[in-house]
Amino acid sequence: MNSLFTEYRTFVTRAVREPSTVGAVLPSSPVLAREMAAVVPSTERPVVVELGPGTGALSGAIAQRVPEGGRHVAVEIDPGMCEHLRATHPGLEVLEGDAERLGELLAGVGIHSVDAVVSGLPWSLFDAESQRRVLREVGGVLAPGGGFTTIAYAHALGLRGARLFRHRLGELFDEVITSRTVWRNVPPARVYVCRRPVLRG
Ligand SMILES: C[S@@+](CC[C@H](N)C(=O)[O-])C[C@H]1O[C@@H](n2cnc3c(N)ncnc32)[C@H](O)[C@@H]1O
Repeated sequence: MNSLFTEYRTFVTRAVREPSTVGAVLPSSPVLAREMAAVVPSTERPVVVELGPGTGALSGAIAQRVPEGGRHVAVEIDPGMCEHLRATHPGLEVLEGDAERLGELLAGVGIHSVDAVVSGLPWSLFDAESQRRVLREVGGVLAPGGGFTTIAYAHALGLRGARLFRHRLGELFDEVITSRTVWRNVPPARVYVCRRPVLRG
C-alpha cells in the first residue's frame, strides 16, 4: 500500500480517536518539515529530539540532516503513533511518553544534552502550566548553542492563546525568531526558532 496513504490513514484515525492529544487534521507538509528541520546540525554527531512526531511527517526531513553517528530520538505519547513510527522509521529511537517528562525519558536512554529539539506538539491543547513545564524541560536539556523549533499556524497568530504562547517562548528563550509563512502546508504555518534558554530546572 502507498506509504503516504498509510501515513494519512494512521494520522486521521488517531486524530479522530484522540482529538485531545493529536490536535491537527493533517500531518505537516514536506516544505514545512524542511523548514523545521533546518535547526538540526548536519555536521559531527548531533543528538536530536523530536516531540510529538505523530506519524513522522517531520521525521524524514530530520533524518536526512542527521549525519551517521548522530542520534534521532522521538518522544510520542500515543501508543498507536509509536507503533506506526517503529514500523515505518527504523532509524528513529521511539520513546513512548509525555514530553512533560522529557529530561527523565532522555536520561533513561543515556542522553543528558541535546543539540536540537523539533516540536510538532499541539500547544493549543495544553494549559499554560503544561506549556511551561514542557518548555522548561526543553530548556533543561538543550546544549549551549542548541536550537528548538516549533510550529505556529498563521491563521491563529492573532488569537489570545497563540499570543500568550509566543510571550511564553520569549520568557523562556533569549532569542525567538519567526520564519516567513510556509504557504504549502494545511493550514499555512510559521516556524519559531528559539535559542539560549533563560530558565533552567
Ligand atoms: C499535531 S500532531 C503532529 C504530528 C507531526 N509532528 C506533524 O507535524 O505532522 C501532534 C502529536 O503530538 C502528540 N502529543 C500530544 N501531546 C503530547 C505529549 N504531552 N507528549 C508527547 N507527545 C504528545 C500527539 O499524540 C500527536 O502525535
